[in-house]
Amino acid sequence: MNRILITGGAGNIGSAIVEKLITKAENYVVIVDDLSTGFLSKLPKIQNERWEFIKADVNDFKEIAPIMMSHKFDYVFHFAAVVGVARTQENPVKVLRDIDGIRNILDLSKNTSVKRVFFSSSSEVYGEPVVLPQHEETTPLNSRVPYAVVKNVGESFCKSYYQEYKLNYTIFRFFNTYGPSQSTDFVVARFLAAALKNEDITIYGDGMQTRTFTYVDDTVDTCLNCLYNNQQVNDVINIGNDQLCTILELAQLIISLTKSSSKIIHLPPLKEGDMTRRQPDNAKMREILGRPLVTLEDGLQKMISSSHFLSSIGLQ
Ligand SMILES: NC(=O)c1ccc[n+]([C@@H]2O[C@H](COP(=O)([O-])OP(=O)(O)OC[C@H]3O[C@@H](n4cnc5c(N)ncnc54)[C@H](O)[C@@H]3O)[C@@H](O)[C@H]2O)c1
Repeated sequence: MNRILITGGAGNIGSAIVEKLITKAENYVVIVDDLSTGFLSKLPKIQNERWEFIKADVNDFKEIAPIMMSHKFDYVFHFAAVVGVARTQENPVKVLRDIDGIRNILDLSKNTSVKRVFFSSSSEVYGEPVVLPQHEETTPLNSRVPYAVVKNVGESFCKSYYQEYKLNYTIFRFFNTYGPSQSTDFVVARFLAAALKNEDITIYGDGMQTRTFTYVDDTVDTCLNCLYNNQQVNDVINIGNDQLCTILELAQLIISLTKSSSKIIHLPPLKEGDMTRRQPDNAKMREILGRPLVTLEDGLQKMISSSHFLSSIGLQ
């Protein structure tokens, strides 16, 4: 039996991992989330004996300690964090408090003999890139905003706990992940919702900022292969699609796929935090995933035909 903790398991990526973990009889999953941006509706629909939910704040030692001490987990996925460009810019002190959560999780993992901690870092640790694609070992880290600094500190904590206490880790540097559970705070879901309702699609600046978009199944399958195949132990891995697309192209593709009459409206550019370019070197990910990544067009089609997504935007 694998006893697995997922913090932030009522969020997008966490809930998608839980869905897959509980399909296997050997896994028992405890989902911990404070529901700050997560939702109970993202918890598994199947009521079986393989999971439970506990509402708790991982940044508060008094709340997370009894959970970890009593369950004695084998593996921990630490995905809880304040996320979203606007939210993290407006609440920098709250973002920095996530360092407490990282330390709580690592201390408690060390003291309860957890076999490996999987930490959700971010492409943001690279900052504004000088060269593309961004490589795990050779691209310098250039974290400036608090969100990126916290992820960078978290990576350093993981490596240091391994060095001093032999606590195993895997660092996932997630690039933009989208999927049916994504809220309209994020660009793909926001554009799709607008297009499906034939409302204007708004873009900050000229829309020439490039992005890569990773379908959630690719993200989750890579994470789980790292667990099941015992890969990337004490290593860092970029998890992201490397197919480049400008924000303007994304809006145009979405309008065409949804056969929408939406118009594209340009707003003034954001002052900070809207990187102009980002693209992972995902050679490690491709090897671990062992299948082609989902193309942007196919991923968007999956969202358009997802009743979960359509009901979340009030269209079903
Ligand atoms: N989705 C992406 O594209 C992306 C990109 C880079 C990094 N990440 C990282 O991946 C992780 C998951 O992101 P997501 O997109 O699923 O975001 P999300 O907001 O959907 O999930 C985060 C979850 O953590 C919970 N949470 C936040 N603070 C908490 C706390 N102190 N205690 C307990 N629960 C708390 C929230 O309620 C939410 O359910 C985050 O750490 C994020 O920084 C995501």
